[in-house]
Amino acid sequence: MQTLAIFGAGRLGQSWGRLAQQSGRYRVVAVCCRSEAAARRAVDFIGAGQPATLDAPVALADLNLLAVPDDALAELATRLADRPTAIAATAFHASGVLDSAVLAPLTSAGLVCGSLHPAFSFAEPARAVQTFAGTLCALEGNAAAQTTLQAFAAAIGGRPFSLTPGSKAAYHASLSIASNFLVTLTGLAQAVAAQAGIEGELARSLLGNLMHQSLDNALTLGAARALTGPIARGDAATVRQHLAVLGGTPQAALYLALGRATLALAQHSAEHAGVPADAWARLSAELADPSAVAAPVPSIAVAPSEACATGGTAAISPTSIAGPSPSEWS
Ligand SMILES: NC(=O)c1ccc[n+]([C@@H]2O[C@H](COP(=O)([O-])OP(=O)(O)OC[C@H]3O[C@@H](n4cnc5c(N)ncnc54)[C@H](OP(=O)(O)O)[C@@H]3O)[C@@H](O)[C@H]2O)c1
Repeated sequence: MQTLAIFGAGRLGQSWGRLAQQSGRYRVVAVCCRSEAAARRAVDFIGAGQPATLDAPVALADLNLLAVPDDALAELATRLADRPTAIAATAFHASGVLDSAVLAPLTSAGLVCGSLHPAFSFAEPARAVQTFAGTLCALEGNAAAQTTLQAFAAAIGGRPFSLTPGSKAAYHASLSIASNFLVTLTGLAQAVAAQAGIEGELARSLLGNLMHQSLDNALTLGAARALTGPIARGDAATVRQHLAVLGGTPQAALYLALGRATLALAQHSAEHAGVPADAWARLSAELADPSAVAAPVPSIAVAPSEACATGGTAAISPTSIAGPSPSEWS
């Protein structure tokens, strides 16, 4: 059985600690937080391990999980690098955007280093351990680290897959677009529905049903084939009416930016080849109208998705989104 030390036993650290201990394949030997009181609470939840502060001279284990906030990883790696360690010990973190290079001091100290990012939101550890099974976990690091982390991910119920070296930022950006921006779009659609006097449960059902259907179609058929609506039909007059009603409101900027991306998707796909070229040109002219974007993008309350760790509202300027090439939408 391998030993596991956890440095930073917050939401993810506690959840993985308990799942690892319960798997019967790992023994949690140390649980370290900034305060000893927090470490003791984490040990109670995990059901194993010695509580300690992050400053205490705790020896490294076979596996060492660094689960502090991303910004604190480099400093913690430096702090741990002079601790006694077993030969071929592994250190890993769970950041979505950082790769194992942030653990360089530990690599220099002789550990094999990697990262294991779960596409999962650990809002509450007790709930997380019940629902984690089947979660896709992105692996990165050298071959030895990946072998070790693959076994760890599988033991706690995850489904590991390897990332191409150097791809973590793109990987994490895609998760943010899929998760955070979907929430932002929901808020924007609700704000525009309110302009039509549609609010509350009616707005949730009206928009929710359509959003579920569109997402299902896009995932099943692919984005280009799933696309319907005025832009896919080449209907510039409808787009003009939308912009007339949004004109001067903060939502117009996002409508234009996403409209241009939607136009590029439709225009370059075989599914919409029947739309005449002059219709695309008219749409392009409508969507280029700078007068519709006088007001700034609004601030919308967006519930952050911890799975991607990029909660917040996206400020998108109408000129900052270039239309995608068709290959970017498969
Ligand atoms: N939560 C998620 O849904 C999720 C999902 C995927 C990946 N991740 C990744 O998992 C890692 C941990 O995230 P988390 O959500 O578990 O964080 P968290 O709940 O905030 O826990 C952070 C832990 O680090 C300690 N800590 C906080 N600030 C610190 C600092 N400046 N220096 C040293 N230690 C510090 C805390 O100690 P105290 O307990 O003493 O305060 C706590 O034990 C991050 O890399 C994150 O990107 C999280």
